[in-house]
Formats: sequence, structure tokens, C-alpha cells
Amino acid sequence: MAQVVFVAPDGTRHEVDATKDSSAMNAALDNLVPGILGECGGELSCATCHVFVQGEWDSVLPVISPEEDALLEATATERAKNSRLACQIVCRADIDGIVLQLPADQ
Ligand code: FES
Repeated sequence: MAQVVFVAPDGTRHEVDATKDSSAMNAALDNLVPGILGECGGELSCATCHVFVQGEWDSVLPVISPEEDALLEATATERAKNSRLACQIVCRADIDGIVLQLPADQ
């Protein structure tokens, strides 16, 4: 199990326990974290699970796929260097404590 910390634009922190190998998107939805929509259910076609990976965690995640990279061009809030799609972040033990900033809009 991994803990995932979502930080809302107003600074509110939502610390949730993710089911082993679930996505960060599912962890947010399962715990009613506002600001993650996940409209496509993790099928990599909606970009409504956009997050900004905080601190050193960006270097721990697997390299971004070409499909994820392309979809990040369609986010409601402009992407940044540390943008990822939460449905592509697998909650393994090595990301326990990861901090994901939520964008203003999805
Ligand atoms: S939930 Fe649709 S791209 Fe992530």
C-alpha cells in the first residue's frame, strides 16, 4: 500500500491510502478527493486526471509514455515540466508518500 498526498490549489492536503497497484487517479476517486475527475476511467483519453508531481518524486516515476505526453497537451490547466496523468501513476511501495499538486481546472 502507498500513501498519496493530493494538494488542492488552496493548499488543502488530502492524504489517502491507495490500494496496492491501483492508480493515483483511482485512489483519488475512491477517497472522494475533489479535483480529479477521471472521466475516461483511466483509458488515457480524457486528461481530467492532470497533476503536478512535487519535489523529487518526479524522478522516481517511470518515464512518460508518448501517449501520455501527447494527451498532456490537452489539459484544461496548462501543463508544466512536472505534469503527469494520475491514471498512469501506479501506487507501488516505492512511491509511498508521493505528493501530487492538483491543477486549478481539469
Ligand atoms: S482518467 Fe482519463 S486520462 Fe487519466
